[in-house]
Amino acid sequence: MPRPILATIHTAALQHNLARAQQAAPDARVWAVVKANAYGHGIERVFEAFRAADGFALLDLQEAERIRHLGWRGPILLLEGVFEPRDLELCSRLGLWHAVHCDAQIDWLAAHKTQVPHRVFLKMNSGMNRLGFTPERYRAAWARLNALPQVEEISLMTHFSDADGPRGIAHQMAAFALATRDLPGERSLCNSAATLRHAQDAQVRADWVRAGIMLYGGAPDHPERRSMDWDLQPGMTLSTKLLAVQELQPGDTVGYGSSFTADAPMTLGVAACGYADGYPRHCGTGTPVLVEGVRTRTVGRVSMDMLAVDLTPLRAAGMEVGMGSEVTLWGRSSLGAVLPIDEVAQAAGTIGYELMCAVAQRVPVVVDASA
Ligand SMILES: Cc1ncc(COP(=O)(O)O)c(C=O)c1O
Repeated sequence: MPRPILATIHTAALQHNLARAQQAAPDARVWAVVKANAYGHGIERVFEAFRAADGFALLDLQEAERIRHLGWRGPILLLEGVFEPRDLELCSRLGLWHAVHCDAQIDWLAAHKTQVPHRVFLKMNSGMNRLGFTPERYRAAWARLNALPQVEEISLMTHFSDADGPRGIAHQMAAFALATRDLPGERSLCNSAATLRHAQDAQVRADWVRAGIMLYGGAPDHPERRSMDWDLQPGMTLSTKLLAVQELQPGDTVGYGSSFTADAPMTLGVAACGYADGYPRHCGTGTPVLVEGVRTRTVGRVSMDMLAVDLTPLRAAGMEVGMGSEVTLWGRSSLGAVLPIDEVAQAAGTIGYELMCAVAQRVPVVVDASA
C-alpha cells in the first residue's frame, strides 16, 4: 500500500482558467505558459486542457519537443530564445518561434543555414533588467534582424516587473510605446498579473498575452486579491490522510524542537505529508489546512514525511475525524472546499509558483479529467 499522499491535476479547472485569460484579454491570443514542466503540473497532464490556447510558451527545447510529440502543430514560443547556435536547427525542424534578447542570438541567426525562415520575438528590457535590449538599442536590433534572410517575421515583446503591485506598468508601457512607435509587427506584453489587472487597455493586452500562474489557479497578486476574487480554480490539489491521532495535555509539546506547547487539552492529527513531498518546511504553526474539507491549522514543525494538524475545533464541532480522514494541503477537498495554494505559500514566506514547481518526484500524480 503506497503512502496516501496524492497530487491531483484538475483538467476542468485548467480549462476554466484558460477561458478566464481569454475573457480578460478579449481579441488577444493567449500563450499558455508551460515552462518548468507546466509549473510542476506536467506538460503531458495539462496539454488537453490547454489545447484551446493559441500557443504554448516555455523555455526548454526538450519541453517544446514534448509538445510537438503530443501532436501540437500550432505556435510554440521559446521565451528566452536559444541558448546556443545549434538550438536553431531544432527551431527550424520543429517550427519553434523564439525570443531574441541579445546580440549573440542575432549573430547565431545570421550564421544559421536554413530553408525555413524564423519567426522571432524581439525582447525589450523596458525596466525589468533581466533580458532584452534597452529601449535605446532596440531599434538597431530590430533593423539587424529585419535585414536577415533567416528571419521571416519580427514580433515585439517586453515583460513587466510590477504588474501585480502598486508601481504598475505605466513606466514600462511608456518606454515600450516610444521605442516601438512606428515598428510593424505583433506585440506581446502581459503576464497573468497584467492580463487580469491591466488588459482592459487594448494597447496593453496587444496581440498576445502570456498567461502562466493564472492558468494553474494562482492569484498573481495574492494577498491583495485571492484566486476566487479572480474566479480562478485550483489546477492542482495536494491531499493525504491522517496516519495517527494524539491527545495532548497542557504543557505537551509537538514535533522537532518542541516549537509548539499545548496550553489546553487538544487533539492532533498526524498527516502523511512532509517537506520531502514538497510541502514547505517554513510553514509554521497556524498554516491553513483542510481536514475533511474543514479549515484548521498545522501545529509545530513540518518534518520530512509528516506534519501535525489541529483537530480540536473539528472534534468540538462533533466531527468524526481521525485516522484515515482526508487532509487537503492545498487545492480542493473532495467535498469541494478550496484552500488556495497562495495561502500556504504566504505562510511559508513564498509564492504559489514555488510550491507548484516543488512537488516532489515521490508524490504520485493523477489527472482528474471529469467535468
Ligand atoms: C517572459 C515571461 N512571460 C510570461 C510569464 C508568465 O508569468 P505569470 O506566471 O506570472 O503569468 C513569465 C513567467 O515568469 C515569463 O518569464
